[in-house]
Amino acid sequence: MLTLGIETSCDETGLALMEDGRVVCSKLASQEDLHAVFGGVVPELASREHLRILPGLFDDLLLESGRTPGELDAIAVARGPGLLGSLLVGLGFAKGLALSTGAGLIGVNHLWAHLLAPGLEQELLFPALGLLVSGGHTQLTLMHRPDSLETVGRTLDDAAGEAFDKVAKLLNLPYPGGRHIDQLAKLSEPDTALFPRPYLKNRTLDFSFSGLKTAVATHVAANPGLRFPSMVDKERVLEEGARNRELCRVCSSFNWAVASTLQIKTRRALGRYPQVTALIVAGGVAANSMVRRLMAELAAEAGLRLLIPSPGLCTDNGSMVAYCGEVMYQRGWSHDLGVDAVPRGRPVPMDFTPRRRAFQAGPQPSG
Ligand code: KG4
Ligand code: ZN
Repeated sequence: MLTLGIETSCDETGLALMEDGRVVCSKLASQEDLHAVFGGVVPELASREHLRILPGLFDDLLLESGRTPGELDAIAVARGPGLLGSLLVGLGFAKGLALSTGAGLIGVNHLWAHLLAPGLEQELLFPALGLLVSGGHTQLTLMHRPDSLETVGRTLDDAAGEAFDKVAKLLNLPYPGGRHIDQLAKLSEPDTALFPRPYLKNRTLDFSFSGLKTAVATHVAANPGLRFPSMVDKERVLEEGARNRELCRVCSSFNWAVASTLQIKTRRALGRYPQVTALIVAGGVAANSMVRRLMAELAAEAGLRLLIPSPGLCTDNGSMVAYCGEVMYQRGWSHDLGVDAVPRGRPVPMDFTPRRRAFQAGPQPSG
């Protein structure tokens, strides 16, 4: 089975061709430089850029893989949650292609694609507890089956990646700032008393990172030497940042506060769901070194397999969409041309069209 994956939910244009669970070829065009100076993604610019880039990227994918559109069995496209204009570009492209080739169409929940992404590299185990930490979302998910996911905890305000990006902006580091903070944090031990680990004194599995961001903002305001005088070039962050030891200590302490909070709430969730056999960690922030280390510690302590994608597959990409789409399609689910985009903040509906129920009889996916 040959599946095309299309990802345009935010500022990465991603495409991948997958054959029977194996990635044949993938392409990723980042808009990072376009948005860097704004300290965040400008939605209008992002959708126009997807529209400009997508056709050429698709041509490159076909050229490099030697495949033709007529060979496609299914087209998987991220349908949300994400930036509406950006999603519509990918969806429009997918629908046109499905109509002209006769390939099946499947709209993919971007969050599910992140959570299943470890399956690109290793066998997934179920039931699993999934921690999704990205720029737009932070949630704990009980993963009963690949097509049955239940959110059991979520952020009440900022997502973990958003906190990284906002703190980076305070320090005049370019967007997206998470990986720069990660780099600088590695140069210092954390001061675990410097910032509070937020929203732990409760019994919930929810998160809240806005207070931590404010604590960093207050500290930076009182110590203006921490901030670069103007936005530093992304290629020079490590070199310039390494000279400021106090900055590295602040990055490390903030990074620790986030990673430790994620670890504590995930440990709490594991206590409540003893049936899980694996811990899945996914999304852009899963690329963070300290998050990876603390989650590895937690999995070892709980005697669970840790399934975490390699860093390049944690951030948005076409391969995870192709994989999730193929898994869903093979379970008998697809969409017709009416499939709609879902903006951030709205639940993605389970409005699949049963394809070949005989393939695998089972209940409608739940989420
Ligand atoms: O999953 P993703 O590519 O996009 C969304 O679905 O949001 O995640 C992007 C987020 C950004 O906030 C970025 O700063 C963060 O992931 N990120 C990191 C690292 N690499 C990316 N945060 C911390 N450490 C990293 N190494
Ligand atoms: Zn994402």
